[in-house]
Amino acid sequence: MDRANSLAGRDRQTLVHPFTNLAEHARTGPLVIERGEGVYVLDDEGRRYLEGMAGLWCTALGFSERRLVQAAREQLARLPAYHLFGGKSYRPAIELAERLLALAPVPMAKALFVNSGSEANDTALKLVRYYHAARGRPEKRKVIARLRAYHGVTMAAASLTGLAHAHQDFGLPLPGFLHTDCPHHYRCGLPGESEEQFAARLAGNLERLILREGPDSVGAFIAEPVMGAGGVIIPPATYFDKVQAVLEKYDVLLIADEVITGFGRTGAMFGCETFGLRPDLITLAKALSSGYQPIGAVLISPAIEEAMLEQSKRLGTFGHGFTCGGHPVCTAVALRTLQIYEEDDVLGQVRARAPQFAARIRALGSHPLVGDARAVGLVGAIELMADPLHRIPFAPGFKVGARVVQRALEQGVILRPLDDVVSFCPPLIIDAAELDFLFDVVGRALDQVAAELEELTARTEKARARVA
Ligand SMILES: Cc1ncc(COP(=O)(O)O)c(C=O)c1O
Repeated sequence: MDRANSLAGRDRQTLVHPFTNLAEHARTGPLVIERGEGVYVLDDEGRRYLEGMAGLWCTALGFSERRLVQAAREQLARLPAYHLFGGKSYRPAIELAERLLALAPVPMAKALFVNSGSEANDTALKLVRYYHAARGRPEKRKVIARLRAYHGVTMAAASLTGLAHAHQDFGLPLPGFLHTDCPHHYRCGLPGESEEQFAARLAGNLERLILREGPDSVGAFIAEPVMGAGGVIIPPATYFDKVQAVLEKYDVLLIADEVITGFGRTGAMFGCETFGLRPDLITLAKALSSGYQPIGAVLISPAIEEAMLEQSKRLGTFGHGFTCGGHPVCTAVALRTLQIYEEDDVLGQVRARAPQFAARIRALGSHPLVGDARAVGLVGAIELMADPLHRIPFAPGFKVGARVVQRALEQGVILRPLDDVVSFCPPLIIDAAELDFLFDVVGRALDQVAAELEELTARTEKARARVA
């Protein structure tokens, strides 16, 4: 138990922690992180942890990139605060927009800056409405997301999210937010169904949903190229081709949520390239600044930008924007981040490291607790199963994912359980030895939890036998 006047004690008295069991936290307290060094963070007692999740899928360049500190310092000295409202502008915002448009996986006309991934998705939804309204179809407003998607936590972004805890007792999703199938072949595929057959079935279900709702009322479909917080779900072969054919048939816009997959994570600059998405809007955040500053962006297709211009002629002001959206220090740091990705060939580093990453994850797939092991680029996961052969999950009460993550933490690796999926998303600059350390620890953590579960089962059986 921490002392009341320690940092941990003061935390428990004052802070609400996002996505945390608040009652449990009141009992257990925080892990206080004090500094970062490469792919490691250090706690307030000097213990070092490899950050296996790059913070929250963010710190692609690790935790001590001096060039980003320098960029922030210089911008703070030159123009520490300003805004883009009413036609004001400044160099880092302009240069960041130019660079993003040059990098975009499909031709994009403009960039609109926000402060987070949630705001980016919220903004994208408003642009969908604006676009359809400009074309005389204001009723084309419903939006389809997927079960197990994670798109953020504002009222609209949480409505897109397809996870129960984002909705329960918040009175969400809002009306007009629909969810279609999760493209998780391992869990949702029928016996003997190939990835292609599964993808065809899901595209068929999507088409039926659009027809049931009325194509004139459906404005957009949103997808993460790889689902992140829903469990690192990699789309089955041909999925996006088949889905996009349906969207095109009914004039439904595609929003690609690249908040996790953007900037090299999947081995290409964008997940759209890895999985063949041709989006109308792209939302970005996280690795856009390597997590060093809060910034997000929406990239806007030429057709949508044209509609926005038309709307502006009719309505006057484009009535949307956040005070700090495109903040000078955030854009300066993001710009420097993108330069470093190029200067250091971070994409090349990801491609060089990806085979080792995939091989180590695949090897964990043969552990008796693991049902599925998957990876693309430098993001991956293992899915824990009570009976991997018959795909029977653990009862949630066992909290097996959390147990594995706890055992890994005790050995110096920070991971995050997504129910019984343990996900991996290390900084993109991780080297071969650091990757080996990460997976050696996970292997030991799995062995420990397997032994704990065996002991638990033996004790339960003994107790049952006594009762009988
Ligand atoms: C795919 C995806 N979209 C959107 C968000 C929301 O981003 P933020 O937490 O910056 O609002 C997240 C956050 O994890 C995400 O993973």
